Amino acid sequence: MLRIGDLEIDFALREVRRDGAPLRVGSRAFDILELLNNANGELVSKDEILRVVWPRTVVEENNLQVQISALRKVFGASSQLIRTVSGRGYKLLQCTNVVRAEHVRDTQPDAALVTSFDDSQVISNGSNVHLVGRDLTLAEVLTVLKHRETVTLVGTGGIGKTRLAIEAARKAAPAFPDGVVVISFSSVTDERFALDAAAAGLRIKNANAPLSINTIVDAVRGKRLLIVLDNCEHVVGSAANIALALRNSGHVILATSREPLRIPDETLYPVPPLVVPEAASTEGAVLLTGAAQLFLARVKGVAPEFAVDKKTVLLIGAVCRALDGIPLAIELAAARAALLGIEVLGNRLNDRLRILTGGCRTAPPRHQTMRATLDWSYRLLSEIERSVLRRLGVFVGGFTFDAICFLTVDQDASTWETLEAFCGLVSKSMVAAQLDGNDRRYRLLETTRDYALQQLDDNGERNAASAMHARYLLTLFGEAPANGTERTDEKRLADFSCELGNVRAALEWSFSSSGDPSMGVALASATVPYLFDLSLLSECCSRARQALAVYDSTMDCEIPSDSVLKLRAALAAGLVYTNGPGPEARHEWMNLYADAVLQRNTEYEACALWGLWNAHQYGGEPRAALLMAQRFCDLARGRADVTQSLLGMGIEGITLHYLGDQLQARARLEEMLAAYDQSAHRWSATGFHIEHGIVARATLSRVLWVQGSE
Ligand SMILES: Nc1ncnc2c1ncn2[C@@H]1O[C@H](COP(=O)(O)OP(=O)(O)OP(=O)(O)O)[C@@H](O)[C@H]1O
Ligand SMILES: [Mg+2]
Repeated sequence: MLRIGDLEIDFALREVRRDGAPLRVGSRAFDILELLNNANGELVSKDEILRVVWPRTVVEENNLQVQISALRKVFGASSQLIRTVSGRGYKLLQCTNVVRAEHVRDTQPDAALVTSFDDSQVISNGSNVHLVGRDLTLAEVLTVLKHRETVTLVGTGGIGKTRLAIEAARKAAPAFPDGVVVISFSSVTDERFALDAAAAGLRIKNANAPLSINTIVDAVRGKRLLIVLDNCEHVVGSAANIALALRNSGHVILATSREPLRIPDETLYPVPPLVVPEAASTEGAVLLTGAAQLFLARVKGVAPEFAVDKKTVLLIGAVCRALDGIPLAIELAAARAALLGIEVLGNRLNDRLRILTGGCRTAPPRHQTMRATLDWSYRLLSEIERSVLRRLGVFVGGFTFDAICFLTVDQDASTWETLEAFCGLVSKSMVAAQLDGNDRRYRLLETTRDYALQQLDDNGERNAASAMHARYLLTLFGEAPANGTERTDEKRLADFSCELGNVRAALEWSFSSSGDPSMGVALASATVPYLFDLSLLSECCSRARQALAVYDSTMDCEIPSDSVLKLRAALAAGLVYTNGPGPEARHEWMNLYADAVLQRNTEYEACALWGLWNAHQYGGEPRAALLMAQRFCDLARGRADVTQSLLGMGIEGITLHYLGDQLQARARLEEMLAAYDQSAHRWSATGFHIEHGIVARATLSRVLWVQGSE
């Protein structure tokens, strides 16, 4: 069998197929093609062609030309591969995208030796769609292959390792005149049979002698083959031995595996997902991404009438994003979309594992559904790796290594065992690592996460894991430890941005029927100020309100006394921005004031007074505002708080200006600005991170203007 681009030339069946469908090729044309192919790229003279193809007839030479041009038509874009050598004959060029896939059908391995060998699937599965979105990746793999003897394409199930390896082998074939061989371990069920699969792939028949690695090495000694070892992960020990022995005897190994072979000088090439469109991409930008192109190619293959308008394209973009650009998941989704429509598919994607089924009948069983492909990996994990993976399912939007340690602290495993298990999960491509500046974070791909959650449910561990998750976030953002190793405010805010998805998930779990309301109130109190700082003001208000309502209605809510004050302060501060400094905000500042006085918490009392000053001042009631400003000053003085005393002078000055007392206003503002130092006089309470000096200076300039001063 010969492959040229998307053509399959099957000499056994005397058939030429494109996208699996046979093309019309006359028998003479086929004879010529076979003759040219047998010449391995060498010239075949016109005389010889005429003699072989028309053995008992004398024909005009133009008959030959007609057949050649018919063949060129069939070859389409690859027609230039049939080269005319002027006046002499023809050649079939062996260009880079030709693979002599002898191993597919010509191989008749000895049945006694070969237990399972299905690399016909490797090649034929999905071959009706060109390799999509891999130009750069393919070029990189080819470059690595030029310089390294053992290259392993690693990545999660269905990411496209096999497809890429086969394509790379095709392109690299001309550099390996002794040949390219694909050995698939995909359906080898036991490590012991890996050697048999290798022998079959290399067409070694020696049923009488016991098969050993040496027999295999000897049989291909003296050649330099490119050997693709496909799907090694479930026989990784044997595959590694075979790879090492063959590499050491001069062959080049291109392996695919969900985990590395871990042999000396192995070069790992992590296969990335297909590029997916950004969230706000335009229709054109979506269509440029590999993921969307694969989706469309697949959907059109199944349902050519599938209509593609702007809305559909944008939905396809969203689906590809939700599937993290994993080709197998995209293929399964496209098949479903062809059947159900893209909108139905899009709405069902929160249950990915159920909807991503119905794979191609010719695909291996582990590619029939997304669950099957994950089952395949899950089975290869150790008990502790499985347990850690399950727990990781509760994280939304990634996690740090510290988070994993926290979440697994109750397991009967030491930190070292957890570390080992975690490294195992990363190397088995179940956990993806992402470097964000100097911080290393990890994440599960969305389909893997769904799978982990499903496993948590099946093992009755979901609630316990969610509780640990919420506790972890509370520890991370709750009260800071009193020692000097504290993170700066900026660092805490940056950490919070990274953990926003986790915080939201933990709050939702805490306030759910199976959650823990006290945990929810404590966590909301620890985190709503960050929502304010990130300008997520509506969310800040609604989460604070939710937590306060739960607190008010839950009798046994055990939380630190100032947690409620924190919630009230964040709610009031948020309302100023979402609803303006009107009655609602004033009401919440009053609530805060009352609670703070009752709890004798002067810090929050000061916040409330400032808030009330602000609400009155900008609500058009400067007299009431002046009263609040004076109380604020009194309180600051009583607490001997220099910063707040200065800020109090500032707000008094502002209100006096609005009341028309420019002399007093100027005196207050000048006194404040004379002592104010932006870096020293900071008030870090929620809502008060404003630059008070600028506000005071701006007001002072208006005062001077009103006074007519220079
Ligand atoms: N770039 C691509 N263009 C078109 N189809 C692709 C591409 N990458 C992968 N596919 C298709 O996606 C499916 C999964 O790809 P493949 O078998 O290569 O995954 P894999 O990483 O080898 O998975 P496994 O770990 O299970 O062996 C196949 O049907 C393949 O044809
Ligand atoms: Mg594979």
